[in-house]
Amino acid sequence: MEILSCSDKDIEKAAAALVKGKLVAFPTETVYGLGADAFNLSALAKVFAAKNRPRFDPLIIHIAEAEALDRIVDTASFEGSAFGSLARERLSILSEKLWPGPLTLILPKREELPDLATAGLATAAVRFPSHPVAQKLIRLSAGAVAAPSANPFGCLSPTRASHVCEQLGDKVDYIIDGGRTQVGIESTVMDISGEKPRILRPGGTSREAIEAFIGPVEMPSTLIMETPETPMSPGQLKSHYAPKTPLVLHRAGELALLPYAPGEGRLYFSRSEPCTADNASCENIKVLSQTGDLCEAAANLFDMLHELDSLGLKLIRAEEAPYYGLGTAINDRLRRGTSGQSGIDR
Ligand code: TXA
Ligand code: MG
Repeated sequence: MEILSCSDKDIEKAAAALVKGKLVAFPTETVYGLGADAFNLSALAKVFAAKNRPRFDPLIIHIAEAEALDRIVDTASFEGSAFGSLARERLSILSEKLWPGPLTLILPKREELPDLATAGLATAAVRFPSHPVAQKLIRLSAGAVAAPSANPFGCLSPTRASHVCEQLGDKVDYIIDGGRTQVGIESTVMDISGEKPRILRPGGTSREAIEAFIGPVEMPSTLIMETPETPMSPGQLKSHYAPKTPLVLHRAGELALLPYAPGEGRLYFSRSEPCTADNASCENIKVLSQTGDLCEAAANLFDMLHELDSLGLKLIRAEEAPYYGLGTAINDRLRRGTSGQSGIDR
């Protein structure tokens, strides 16, 4: 594995490697992706192997110009479906208003796109990232790059090149080091084919931002704020985005009231008191955003979890974010990170 810079020469080298079927980890505005030519079967197979990812979990295809969409998706087949013209209209609005950016759209797949990329589904997930390095790499290579987050399946997503290096090492041919990613949380995945558009995974584009352009959008009930009458059932959530250290999630405001125990790490959503208020070492206590800014909190989420996870702690206690804007995506990742552990701690 070789680490590359963001220089033109290095991006050209990485693009040439992609064309030859090698794996290149690269920065996007959300998290680092593990890239392969979307039309190269053996490169796709290497992505699943490197991540230890089950073959039934489809990849996102990254493009860097709107015209590339036609090589991957067959928008004509929208016509045959019940809400085809609605879907076509939503695609046109969302691609114009929110691309490039952290939004992935599920669209009818073109036959030529390998089934391995879409795990045999008739649809493909497509994203046009806004990161200039990602765009340049995609344009200089095949123009369609399949890229899951560059972490082993089920683990924390990488927001720095060093995270990719530590988690995947020589399973990757090249890593382009573009520094820390800006958004810090994966793209929002949306299905626009039904009567109502649906968010399948909340992420870096908020539901509110999408609704401003296309009206009401559905979100699975498990992602919407839980009330005391409908308690969370962590056992039902698939473990994903998990640190190695057990993670416990607390309701907003609860964590500051809980006495600090030695060997514990804490991830507050916001908190103005100094960490010494917890009587703990400051490196064990992280605050996603002192001012409660959701974008700042999302950008810090995986980064701070990686840091806490490296300290050899017994437990990490995290606090929920508010359930709006990027808070929904933050809470989704935190809740999935707790699965298999003790879940929410009341
Ligand atoms: O921000 C991101 O989306 C990052 C960067 C690298 O672009 N990528 C990323 O990929 O998070 P990954 O593979 O970790 O997550 C892709 C998600 C998975 O939950 C997958 O199941 C879903 O997208 N997905 C992909 N294709 C799909 C399809 N055809 N239908 C439904 N879900 C799909
Ligand atoms: Mg992932």
